Amino acid sequence: MEYLTVNTLSVESGTSTRPSSRWEDFASAGCGRSHPGKTWAFSGAGEGETGDSRRSLRTTGQMTGLRGPSHGRGGRPAATGWWAGVLASLMLPLLGTGCGQTAAASYRLNLVESAKQQLKPEQEQQVANILAALFGTPDEPFAPAECGLDEAKLKLAAGPVRSDIVGRKNGLYREHCAHCHGVTGDGMGPTAAFLNPYPRDYRPGVFKFKSTERADKPTHADLVMVLRNGLAGSSMPSFALLSDAKIESLAEYVKYLSMRGEVELALMRAFFELDDEDQGKLPEDRDFLIDEIVMPVAESWQAAEDALIDVPEMPADIDMAASIAKGKELFYGNKANCVKCHGVTGLGDGQVNDYDDWNKVVVQAYKTVEGSLEQAGETSTWNMDADEAAEHRAELAWLDRYQRVLDGNALPPRTIRPRNLREGVYRGGMRPLDLYYRIHAGINGAPMPAAKGTVPPEDIWHIVNYIRSLPYDFNGTLGVDRPMMARDRL
Ligand code: HEC
Ligand code: HEC
Repeated sequence: MEYLTVNTLSVESGTSTRPSSRWEDFASAGCGRSHPGKTWAFSGAGEGETGDSRRSLRTTGQMTGLRGPSHGRGGRPAATGWWAGVLASLMLPLLGTGCGQTAAASYRLNLVESAKQQLKPEQEQQVANILAALFGTPDEPFAPAECGLDEAKLKLAAGPVRSDIVGRKNGLYREHCAHCHGVTGDGMGPTAAFLNPYPRDYRPGVFKFKSTERADKPTHADLVMVLRNGLAGSSMPSFALLSDAKIESLAEYVKYLSMRGEVELALMRAFFELDDEDQGKLPEDRDFLIDEIVMPVAESWQAAEDALIDVPEMPADIDMAASIAKGKELFYGNKANCVKCHGVTGLGDGQVNDYDDWNKVVVQAYKTVEGSLEQAGETSTWNMDADEAAEHRAELAWLDRYQRVLDGNALPPRTIRPRNLREGVYRGGMRPLDLYYRIHAGINGAPMPAAKGTVPPEDIWHIVNYIRSLPYDFNGTLGVDRPMMARDRL
C-alpha cells in the first residue's frame, strides 16, 4: 500500500483570552524584505491563528524540506525553538519566504465543523496533517493529480504579493481577494464582518451564479465570468482590468480552495463512520484518501461541464406584450410563487426573514448549543452514577467549546434579502439568458427555489420578460399602503 508523506505539524497553545485575534494577525502580516523583487506591505500571512483562543494549528513548513520551521510564538520545547530560530534566520535571506516576526501564511482549520463533529485535538491535528499532505500551504499549493488543477496557474495566484525579476506578478489572490475571502477561502478576511452579504466561504463548494443545474458546480467559464463582471449590487468587485491569464489563475485558485475546503469537511465527517478498533484515527493510505475523500469532490467539479442547463431558444417572433402578461400571471401564481419572496410589488419585500445556507449553519449551531445548555441546566445530576455524571460533564464541556468556537470563528448570522426586481441590478448578470438560468435553477445556497419541474421551460422566458419589463418606478396600483419607501430602504 502506498502511503502519503504527512507533514509534521505542531499544535501551539495560545495564552490569548481575546475572543478572536484573526483581524490583527491578518493586518499585521506585512513584511518589507521578503523578495528581491518588489514587495508590498500586505502579505496576508498568519491565518493559522484562530479565534479559538486555546489552540491553533499551524504547519511547521517541513513539507519540502526547503523551508525552516515557522518562526512563530511559543509551543515547541526551548531547544528546538532555539535551533529553529537559528535555522530560520540563516535561511530567510536565502529563501525569501518571510520576514523576521511573521510566520509563513497558513490555513485556518474549519473549527466550526470540527466542534460540531466533536473532534478531539489529535483528530484535528490529523485532518491538518492530511490536508497539508494533499494540498500544501498557501505559499506552496499543490493538489492530487485527480483534482485536475493546473499547478502553474495556482502558483501565479498563491503566495505573498510579489513580482519576480522580470516583473511578473504573483500572489494575486492575496492582493485582490484575501482581505474579503480570507487566505483559507473561508469568507472571513478582515473586511468580511463589515459587508452584507458576507464574502463567500468557498469551503462547502456551493456557488450561486452559474450556467449549471442547481446543485452542480460552476463551470470554469462561470467563475471567470464572476471575476470579470463582479457581482453587481454586492461588494464583490469586477476584475475586468486584470489580464485573462490572471483571471484564469484566480478562477483556478478558487477551485483549489473550494476543493480543499470540501475535502476538509469530508475528512472531519469521516471520523463518524469509523469502527471502534480504528481508535478514532483515519486511515492515511492513498487508496482511502484519494478514492473515498478526494475523488467524489474532484468528480463533482469535473461533472460541471456536462451539467449545463438546456435553454430553449426564445421564439424570435414572440409577442412581447402577451409574453409579459403570461409572465406576470406566473409570477403571482401558485406554481412559481415568486411573489412569496419578491413581494407583491417586486421590491424584494416578501419573505425577508430567511437565511442562506452559510448563515443557516451558524443559526442552527447556536440553536443546538442554546437548546442543549438549557436542557442540561434542567437536568438534575444528584442521582447519576459516575459514568452518567462523566458523560454529562463531557457534554457540557463540548457545548462550552462549541459556543466559544462559534463566537470566535463565525460571523454573526444575517438574513438574506430577496432581490428588488425594480432596480434592474442582477448579481449573476442582466442578459435574458442569465435571468433564465437563475429562474430555472434557482440560486444554490440561497432560499430561491428552482422553477425547473414546476414551470415548463418555454414559460420561464415569459417570467424573464415580465421581470425585465418591471419599471423602476412603482406605479402605485397596489395602493397607498405600499409606498415607494419600501424600495428606497433597500
Ligand atoms: C470587497 C470584498 C470582496 C473582494 C475583494 C472579492 N470578493 Fe468575491 N465575493 C464578495 C462577496 C460579498 C461575495 C458574495 C456575494 C453574494 O453572495 O451575493 C463574493 C462572491 C464571490 C464568488 C462566488 C460567486 C458565486 O457564483 O457564488 C467568487 C467565486 C468570488 N467571490 C471570487 C473572488 C475572487 C477570486 C476575488 C479576487 C480576485 C474576490 N472574489 C474578491 C466580496 C469580495
Ligand atoms: C423562497 C423565496 C424566493 C422565491 C419563491 C423566489 N425567489 Fe428570487 N430570490 C430570492 C432571494 C433570497 C434572492 C437573493 C439571492 C441572493 O442574493 O443570493 C433572490 C434573487 C432573485 C433574482 C436575482 C438574481 C441575480 O442575479 O441577482 C431574481 C431575478 C429572482 N430572484 C427572480 C425570481 C423569480 C422570477 C421567482 C419566481 C419564479 C423567484 N425569484 C422566486 C428568494 C426567492
